Amino acid sequence: MIFRQLFDQVSSTYSYLLASRPGGEALIIDPVLEKVDRYIQLVKELDLRLVKAVDTHLHADHITGLGALRDRTHCTTVMGEQTKADVISMRLTDGDKLTIEGLALDVIYTPGHTDDSYSFVLPDRVFTGDTLLIRGTGRTDFQNGDSRQQYASIFGRLLKLPDATLVYPAHDYKGDTVSTIGEEKAFNPRLQVKSVEEYVELMHNLKLANPKMMDVAVPANMKVGLAQEEIARRGWALSAADARALVGDPAAALIDLRERSERERHGIIPGSLHVPYPSLQENISKGGMLNELARSTQKRLVFYCAFGERSAMAVQAAQDAGLASACHIQGGVDAWKKAGGPLAN
Ligand SMILES: [Fe+2]
Repeated sequence: MIFRQLFDQVSSTYSYLLASRPGGEALIIDPVLEKVDRYIQLVKELDLRLVKAVDTHLHADHITGLGALRDRTHCTTVMGEQTKADVISMRLTDGDKLTIEGLALDVIYTPGHTDDSYSFVLPDRVFTGDTLLIRGTGRTDFQNGDSRQQYASIFGRLLKLPDATLVYPAHDYKGDTVSTIGEEKAFNPRLQVKSVEEYVELMHNLKLANPKMMDVAVPANMKVGLAQEEIARRGWALSAADARALVGDPAAALIDLRERSERERHGIIPGSLHVPYPSLQENISKGGMLNELARSTQKRLVFYCAFGERSAMAVQAAQDAGLASACHIQGGVDAWKKAGGPLAN
């Protein structure tokens, strides 16, 4: 596995770049906006291809790099389903897998620091966001934080991982880089409590000042979505209500860009083809399946995904590849459901 721990000095944030070779797919956890140039340079130097940018939760102390990375690399943005961010390409829930080629991280919902906090687990390590820090825990006094839930997330989930599991948090303010579950159990002062009440009491009495960046970072991080209006302005978007007429229409090819897990959970628009977003480019290039389909049958390519973000990028890419009929369903399956569109299994 290729693994890099990256640091932003201003917010003391750790970001993590992960990959495992052959095709070079990579993902980044908790990227910081100001460091995006550095990440892109590193991805290039390591001959990787960034396919997912993931936030463990909505950050209050720095602006996320998710939007900028999406705009510059066309990667998929990923957060938990509880997030208040406006548009995220893919939303995860407890028990999901966060996957790239050759790697699958177990997704565990660990609320408490915020109500959208997730941790990601590999066999030898866990990315804990701000739920569990090295010799500390994330504060629980804003963003729907809840120390009772955090106790359950830490004691009920994270500390149940094997003692040797490496702990990689989203921040460290003292210069530590990594710990283990066993070490934190034994030496984390916040975890030396006898009951949930004692933990709640301890967290209640921290009396921390708000993060300096909070008033800037939280609103910015809630507005990371790709502007789908631009795609609509060019006439490349259909509302979910209008798209309903295309089910069963031989002149249209509905193309689902989501992953298998998303299709299983939310259902499929009847009659659609499945072309996962990471394989889009090869499919729309000359000789690719969608390129052939559009050219030989004159079918209109109608992309869709979960919220319209991947499909908006797909429309742009298909138009760039000369497929002038390409359009997408604005707002994705989320909007489709709200418009009462039919879904199959
Ligand atoms: Fe945080």
